[in-house]
Amino acid sequence: MSRNAEELAALVRARAGAEPVRLGLVLGSGLGHLAGAVEGVAVPYADLPGFPHAGVSGHSPTLVVGRLEGVRVAVFGGRAHYYETGDPAAMRLPLEVLKALGAEALILTNAAGSLDPGIRPGELMLLSDHINFSGLNPLIGEPTDARFVPMTDAHDPALRAALRAAAAAEGIALAEGVYAWYSGPSFETPAEIRAIRTLGADAVGMSTVPEVILARFLGLRVAAISTVTNMAAGLSEERISHEHTKAMAPLGAAKLERILRAFLRAMA
Ligand code: HPA
Repeated sequence: MSRNAEELAALVRARAGAEPVRLGLVLGSGLGHLAGAVEGVAVPYADLPGFPHAGVSGHSPTLVVGRLEGVRVAVFGGRAHYYETGDPAAMRLPLEVLKALGAEALILTNAAGSLDPGIRPGELMLLSDHINFSGLNPLIGEPTDARFVPMTDAHDPALRAALRAAAAAEGIALAEGVYAWYSGPSFETPAEIRAIRTLGADAVGMSTVPEVILARFLGLRVAAISTVTNMAAGLSEERISHEHTKAMAPLGAAKLERILRAFLRAMA
């Protein structure tokens, strides 16, 4: 843990209270309103030196620490993507701060394109595993042997079971599949989508994978859910765009919020 992370955690505790956080939540494109549901204190990233200046429209750069369904949580209203910064480790400091605040687990959310005809726009997919198709890694340059992070069961089986149970309790369909990370910011070509479909991907997106790697490095249990905003390139007639992603994300977001609330109630 860097000294900087300990200092920033102290700053967050001074504003939001010393009670340890149990769970972190990273909100993807179009899912930011969940931060407003937390009864707590919002700390703008701008007050946290070294935090990303999350500059993508559809993301709001604040950290909210407080209670959601009775559980002490830290909600990251914006993430930094590799394609904004050129740095795959851009989320390392925020996740180190989460760890320093006491969290044991992290739930990541994102918007994604579907490669599976059975998983349609507006539906949710729990990540069973991922393929790092970018070839990038946030731990390159990490000098310690801790960099050799095992990635078997990186998507925590117990957390996934709890999320599945929460979805079932709410009567919400939750698909499960493999997410492939492309760096973006350009969308994929239809040929790239056909290639990764052959290799076993069910969804594609531009985030999340570096955070899963960092979370496992930091000893946080992690799970991730995609809101499917579109069929991936070449799989439908619709035109893929960031505007479309932002317009479609709220369809899944309402269901995602219910699942997360049920998950937290079971944890409380
Ligand atoms: N590709 C990559 N990222 C995405 C997509 C997609 O089709 N949809 C939403 N985020």
